[in-house]
Amino acid sequence: MAAPLLAFDRVAITLGGREILSPTSFEVGRGEFVCIVGPSGCGKTTLLRAASGLVAPSGGTVRRNGIAVTQPSREVAFVFQDYGRALLPWRTVQGNVALALEAAGVPAKVGLTAHAQKFPAQLSGGMQQRVQIARCLAQAPQLLLMDEPFGALDALTRHGLQDEVARLVAEQGLTVLFVTHDLEEAIYLGDRVIALQADPGPGRPSLARMLDVPIPRPRDQLTTKEHPAFLALRRELFGFIEQGHG
Ligand SMILES: Nc1ncnc2c1ncn2[C@@H]1O[C@H](COP(=O)(O)OP(=O)(O)OP(=O)(O)O)[C@@H](O)[C@H]1O
Ligand SMILES: [Mg+2]
Repeated sequence: MAAPLLAFDRVAITLGGREILSPTSFEVGRGEFVCIVGPSGCGKTTLLRAASGLVAPSGGTVRRNGIAVTQPSREVAFVFQDYGRALLPWRTVQGNVALALEAAGVPAKVGLTAHAQKFPAQLSGGMQQRVQIARCLAQAPQLLLMDEPFGALDALTRHGLQDEVARLVAEQGLTVLFVTHDLEEAIYLGDRVIALQADPGPGRPSLARMLDVPIPRPRDQLTTKEHPAFLALRRELFGFIEQGHG
């Protein structure tokens, strides 16, 4: 068996003297879409930062392709919730997307059609987030990390972008680790959902649940959300989050 693309092996993270992530182990296979949910402050962003090499674990190891992650890599792309700060305001849409290509030494030839020559301030939130995602995909990453990318968008825009990301990920065979507050979004997008708990208590891992999502693809906003497996998973995750613990 080939090594999983990403492996957390008893990863613990202490920041400012507090254990933010208690020893957590899981793997993400190539081409898998794994979503992470959990209450605010339970360490979701910290976990993504560790996956990207921006934060060093205080215990355990993060491995990508079997090799310990010690620093950020061009092969890992990070989509932030705050698109307003992720885009360079003085660059056009085309210029922002081209950044990733310039960093990789690839000539820019990205046409974002009608909006290519606009500046971020001239775009809606949904469109700005699209640009940030396009820039990450232009990087042709091995692993795509997304931190509540649609959290600031209205429901209609969010659903549109969910479907667009699901389609692009399938087309390009990408591996994704996706953090969200939205349990339905996690089930809708994921092959698996991992639920973290805050303050698990001494000796207990942050990872509280790992659920498979046995719903066929392509999915769609109406029928998928009526699928019996969708409803059962939603019930289980809501129960877990509302109790506030595992
Ligand atoms: N550099 C740091 N130094 C000290 N504490 C930190 C640091 N970064 C994060 N924390 C703390 O770690 C905890 C987890 O933060 P994190 O941002 O990972 O949570 P989260 O699950 O992403 O929350 P949210 O859902 O609100 O985004 C929080 O209590 C936060 O204050
Ligand atoms: Mg966060």
